[in-house]
Amino acid sequence: MRTHTCGELTDKEIDKEVTLCGWLHSSRDHGGLIFIDLRDRYGITQIVFDPVQSKDVHKEAETWGREFVLKVTGKVRERPKGMQNKDIGTGQVEVLITKAEVLSKSATPKIDIADRTVAGEELRLKYRYLDLRRPTMLRNMKMRHATSQAVRSYLCQHNFMEIETPFFVKHTPGGARVFKVASRANPGKFWALPESPQMYKQLLMVAGMDRYFQIVKCFRDEDLRQDRQPEFTQIDIEMSFINQDQLLTLMEGMMAHIFKEVKGMTLKTPFQRMTWKEALDQYGSDKPDTRFEMKLQDVSEVVKKSDFSIFKTTLEKNGVVYAINVKDGAKLSRKQIDKLTDVAKESGLPGLGWLKLTKEFEGVIAKFMDGHVQEDLKKATDCHEGDLLLFSAGDFEVATTALGNVRLAVAKMLDLIPKDKYNFLWVLDFPAFEYSEEEQGWAARHHIFTRPTDETVDMCEKDPALVLSHAHDIVLNGVEVGGGSIRIHDRELQARVLKVIGLTMEQAEKRFDFLLEAFRYGAPPHGGIAIGYDRLVALLCGETDIREVITFPRTKAMESPLDNSPQDWEEKWLKEVHLKLR
Ligand code: AMO
Repeated sequence: MRTHTCGELTDKEIDKEVTLCGWLHSSRDHGGLIFIDLRDRYGITQIVFDPVQSKDVHKEAETWGREFVLKVTGKVRERPKGMQNKDIGTGQVEVLITKAEVLSKSATPKIDIADRTVAGEELRLKYRYLDLRRPTMLRNMKMRHATSQAVRSYLCQHNFMEIETPFFVKHTPGGARVFKVASRANPGKFWALPESPQMYKQLLMVAGMDRYFQIVKCFRDEDLRQDRQPEFTQIDIEMSFINQDQLLTLMEGMMAHIFKEVKGMTLKTPFQRMTWKEALDQYGSDKPDTRFEMKLQDVSEVVKKSDFSIFKTTLEKNGVVYAINVKDGAKLSRKQIDKLTDVAKESGLPGLGWLKLTKEFEGVIAKFMDGHVQEDLKKATDCHEGDLLLFSAGDFEVATTALGNVRLAVAKMLDLIPKDKYNFLWVLDFPAFEYSEEEQGWAARHHIFTRPTDETVDMCEKDPALVLSHAHDIVLNGVEVGGGSIRIHDRELQARVLKVIGLTMEQAEKRFDFLLEAFRYGAPPHGGIAIGYDRLVALLCGETDIREVITFPRTKAMESPLDNSPQDWEEKWLKEVHLKLR
């Protein structure tokens, strides 16, 4: 239908007759001449209707509205001097139209097809097909496409095979809550939608596929946040006969390749590596944002000598006291500090201690510290006049994590986070198990197939808290963009790990029968990782919400304003799958 796209014409086509198709982006009437910006995926071309040249066509053009779909034919000519637009590729030329046809009319669009939008989330999602016409959304979709192409080319170069796995699977306990699908053919039976292809990719290793990848949808029935959707996409990877270091190096290569292809940027590899303990100790997070400093300080030793009862009792109970120094933070108002206190409370602390250093320390805690303690504290935290110290007290994980959240909140408040940095890092040596007060027992922190490190595996029987695992999370600018591990491939070690979480091999075999059965038939040592594709693309696009890079996402209430799903279930559908609503 067209000879060129709307992003193609340059001065090389001057005097040629061309036909273009596209949407009427905007229209201006300049003393009889009508100028229209015609838009498609590739760009915008200026077309001109001159009543002297073709009266009928000009007359028609006067009646067209925004977002009409047009097919136009005319001659390319150079734009008059001073009217050229250097910002767009087609900015040197325009097309003088002699023939035009409306292919489709448009109602007044509910959303402006412009970079910025004032439309709220409901409206944007209801009219997503209009929202996707906006230049930023188009750019995001292009980036998403470029990313998947870069992933495929890199992984293929490294001998990976793209292999699919099923979406209707057996529900294996642990991990996220899954969506269930009732079976029509098997009354009373259900499938789960996979929260990830974990079991299947491990089976593919047993099957000898050696290097597997898949860009795959995963489904989790979780409460939604900015960086979570009920269906999202992973770059899922598994490899045989490798160690953790080789896997990390390969992934660094993949990220470097993606950034080169998609953004033309050279990433510095290898990425920084830190243990889980270091990440919490220094940044109060297992996904540290290292784009700014403000590191946490363990001040337990210093404040031990203070008379502040909260610090004292915490330390007596083997807890810790941590501090951050907010440089020039003394200028923060009471209201702002209250906001930070709310963050600490939401993170499980009873409150947030603070001291402002003006001429001397100000704040309720000050009077519980004598001169020596105050001097030691200044030294330990490098505190100078004008600074603000914020304190957390509690058990190591709670106290550091809460202060880590406060660190992020205060950095946002003071606009300390540089926008143009890409800081990748690995977090390693995670504890293998975590104790659940609720369940009164140990649970696997990643999943039960994660391999404990050789140095700590003997703690399984002595003190599970000390067992570390070969798990790895990849973090970019404080966002967990991926995670994985080296797996257990021998049944004996698997039995030891299962015992810690209170399962016998027989009980585990019931739940994970197909995988453990497979391990009887020669399982190679293997490991893998899954990259959160939506999160990665969002970061590449400079977006903070993954919905900006997903075509048809859900609202926070997990609804789709576009098609009004989920919908009421009809009686006959329930019958079909042998269900009754209570
Ligand atoms: P995990 O559960 O850590 O690991 O998931 C891997 C990555 O997927 C992304 N992610 C999400 N993105 C959007 N919405 C969600 N609801 C969501 N949940 C997770 C995150 C996360 O880092 N099978 C293991 C991987 C392995 O061991 O190989 C797994 O799924 O970026």
